[in-house]
Amino acid sequence: MVYTVYEHKEGEIRMKVSVDQDLCIGCGLCESICPEVFRMNDDNLAEVIEQPDSISDTCREACESCPVSAITIEE
Ligand code: F3S
Repeated sequence: MVYTVYEHKEGEIRMKVSVDQDLCIGCGLCESICPEVFRMNDDNLAEVIEQPDSISDTCREACESCPVSAITIEE
């Protein structure tokens, strides 16, 4: 399952941060690095809770740090 949050501005999708929960192994790194965007759910899988106005450095770092590349940023 892919958990996705879309950010809308003036009717357009600006960016999308996704966590592929089929890939997530629940290491918690993304939540540690960028808790504004990621959190661990009850199944100990990461999910996107909120998007910043723009992709922050910490969000990017979380994406790049995921050991199984479960996080995708589309801009
Ligand atoms: Fe899962 Fe990767 Fe975050 S394994 S907990 S999405 S860093």
